[in-house]
Amino acid sequence: MTNWPELESKYFMHTVNRVPVTLVKGEGARVWDDNGREYLDFVAGWAVNSLGHCHPVVAKALAEQAHTLIQVSNQFYTIPQLQLAEILVQHSCLDKVFISNSGAEANEGAVKLVRRYGKHHLNGAYEVISATGSFHGRTLSMVAASGQAKHQEPYQPLPAGFVNVEYNNVEAIKSVTTNKTCAVILEPLQGEGGVNVPDDNYLKAVRKWCDEKGILLILDEIQTGIGRLGTLFAYEQYGVEPDIMTLAKGLGSGVPIGVIMVKDSANVFVPGEHGSTFGGNPLVCAAAYATLKYIIDNNIADSVKKVGQYFTGRLEELKNKYSFITGVRGRGLLLAIEFDREIADDMLKACLGNGLLVNRLKPNALRFMPPLVIGNDEVDEAINILDKVLATV
Ligand SMILES: Cc1ncc(COP(=O)(O)O)c(C=O)c1O
Repeated sequence: MTNWPELESKYFMHTVNRVPVTLVKGEGARVWDDNGREYLDFVAGWAVNSLGHCHPVVAKALAEQAHTLIQVSNQFYTIPQLQLAEILVQHSCLDKVFISNSGAEANEGAVKLVRRYGKHHLNGAYEVISATGSFHGRTLSMVAASGQAKHQEPYQPLPAGFVNVEYNNVEAIKSVTTNKTCAVILEPLQGEGGVNVPDDNYLKAVRKWCDEKGILLILDEIQTGIGRLGTLFAYEQYGVEPDIMTLAKGLGSGVPIGVIMVKDSANVFVPGEHGSTFGGNPLVCAAAYATLKYIIDNNIADSVKKVGQYFTGRLEELKNKYSFITGVRGRGLLLAIEFDREIADDMLKACLGNGLLVNRLKPNALRFMPPLVIGNDEVDEAINILDKVLATV
């Protein structure tokens, strides 16, 4: 039998320390490895498989589109792309759409857009304020935007034009706003940085400041959008509307896609100023349209809210039982537990041994980001495994 990890170390760049499992099949919230072992998947492709693995609606859309039209140049109109744009606009506060291939690329485009806005409306202002602990992607500019030293240090010097300030602190944003500032970019709730939930009034205060200064607010909803927090978009829960929103991850339930959405008031791109060869191709857009339509038609965001509350309650029970659990946080189905010691690696391995996939968020924290379509039964199953492995600490 082929030794896949050996093949990986021989042929693949070592950019990630992989979990020692080779996954070959998925269905719903379950995946199977090459030995036929089944796992309950609470990682979901890193908050991506919103409808679970190989959902029939997504598989059908992909299969039909694969037999019809996969890729043409963006010089031509294509139907799935426009259907996706329409449904996104109809269900959000934004007016126009650009489609890319990933989250980082969507954020890059958003920053290009606010720089164009700065040139047109703000005397050439180009600086973007972002938050420490944020994560906006792996391109050089997004590394500069992401306020995390571990991602920035290896790549100095970074592109200019980004200022990182403390998250959840509007005064910090105010203190670095100058006549060079054109926008603020924030995650409504920080995912990669630690599942950090801001105060309820933070985004409102930032929105107010941006309005006062005439600068733009970009919300990076790449992880929080498409139902993950219990509303279709997280901004709905915080009572603000962004000028620009970026999406990716859960939108395609597994196909690579990123989206920039913008209000008409900030929609300053003209032909030739931005583009992508693959972005918005018919194959990917057919899957994303099918995913989003299913999520909307079946009110999945509401079910995420209910299951998320149930899951939070069950994690709180574990916290009451095990004194070394110091925190339970998150919203909807983006949740984390924190420990008073660095046991996340051991817990991840122990969960794996018991058939549960989880994410090691930090040395002392685990994250859960299951498919949006799970029910309380799957939560109970995960909690039973967690209880078993936590009992060994
Ligand atoms: C909030 C946020 N923005 C951007 C990204 C980057 O997305 P991608 O990996 O698709 O480039 C991520 C990925 O984790 C993310 O969580």
